[in-house]
Amino acid sequence: MKTFFVTGGAGFIGSAFIRSLLADDPNVRIINYDSLTYAGNLENLAGLDENRHVFVNGDICDRSSVLAALPDDVDAIFNFAAESHVDRSITSADEFLRTNIIGTQVLLDAARAKGVRRFVQISTDEVMGSLPDESDEYFTESSPLQPNSPYAASKASAEFIVRAAIETFGVDAVITRCGNNYGPRQFPEKLIPLMIANAMNDEPLPVYGDGKNVRDWIYVDDHCRAIWLAYENGRSGEAYNIGSRNEQYNIDVVHAILDALGKPYDLIRYVTDRLGHDRRYAIDPTKAETELGWKPLTSWEDGLIGTIDWYRNNQPWVEHVRSGEYREYYRRMYGEV
Ligand SMILES: NC(=O)c1ccc[n+]([C@@H]2O[C@H](COP(=O)([O-])OP(=O)(O)OC[C@H]3O[C@@H](n4cnc5c(N)ncnc54)[C@H](O)[C@@H]3O)[C@@H](O)[C@H]2O)c1
Repeated sequence: MKTFFVTGGAGFIGSAFIRSLLADDPNVRIINYDSLTYAGNLENLAGLDENRHVFVNGDICDRSSVLAALPDDVDAIFNFAAESHVDRSITSADEFLRTNIIGTQVLLDAARAKGVRRFVQISTDEVMGSLPDESDEYFTESSPLQPNSPYAASKASAEFIVRAAIETFGVDAVITRCGNNYGPRQFPEKLIPLMIANAMNDEPLPVYGDGKNVRDWIYVDDHCRAIWLAYENGRSGEAYNIGSRNEQYNIDVVHAILDALGKPYDLIRYVTDRLGHDRRYAIDPTKAETELGWKPLTSWEDGLIGTIDWYRNNQPWVEHVRSGEYREYYRRMYGEV
């Protein structure tokens, strides 16, 4: 039996990772350590086998709580826990610096103290900044780290913290840098679920600037498999860029959602652009493909339709998130803690 310590496992990607890991391997046990910020939702974990999935409500910045929750026989820490929304980091960066940087340091210290065999840091392509419009440039693992938002800067800092632990203390660690994820259970402040939720309710769809920012979209389960393969096959000290070679203009994404839902384009409202809005992200995933043996399995068309269907068929989930009721779920399930 392998034991993994997953942080941020009540969020969008962490919960997808836990679901697939438990489904794929009966010999896996997961400790899911999450402080349940506004983005953490235990409804994302409903139905999981409680013998193999143990939820611990804790903050990654809280050293004694992390040490108390982390057993001695852990095969890997997967660090998903983060403040993850760029817009929020522009409004206030404090929590981003605390969780994304200090929290990563605390986890690395705990990993050393408890002899954890491998540390997997879930990073983002945003650490590499922005690419010029209409160019044939791509982010590779040797692209410089040039973060442009407080969120990206905090994630880049976390990468340096991981690097320092590898170089100074010989910690075994790999880093994954993925592009924009989409799929079921994503908090509806991010582009795709926000547009789906608003369109389903015939509410206006706010689109930043001219709508021509380009993102490299990947289906969440493809990202999760890449993280797993980075754990299994990645070389310590290496970063792996993860992307599906799927560049899309934001406005095309919005049109595709409206088309799929049969809603009119006049729901679109162009709004003042995000400050410092990165223009284009595009990932060259050659290293992950060749070294990790990874390739994406879900096409953009299938993934988007599947995602829209999920939101359509899980309206209570959307309503609970939008109304804040999902926060009651924890109290109903676990009482006041
Ligand atoms: N969403 C994307 O498109 C994307 C792309 C590339 C990389 N990433 C990275 O993947 C990871 C997961 O992203 P996501 O979209 O699932 O995020 P999310 O915001 O949906 O979930 C984050 C989770 O971390 C938890 N958390 C936050 N602060 C914490 C703390 N101090 N202690 C313990 N738990 C805490 C939250 O409660 C939540 O469950 C992040 O590290 C993010 O930077 C995300």
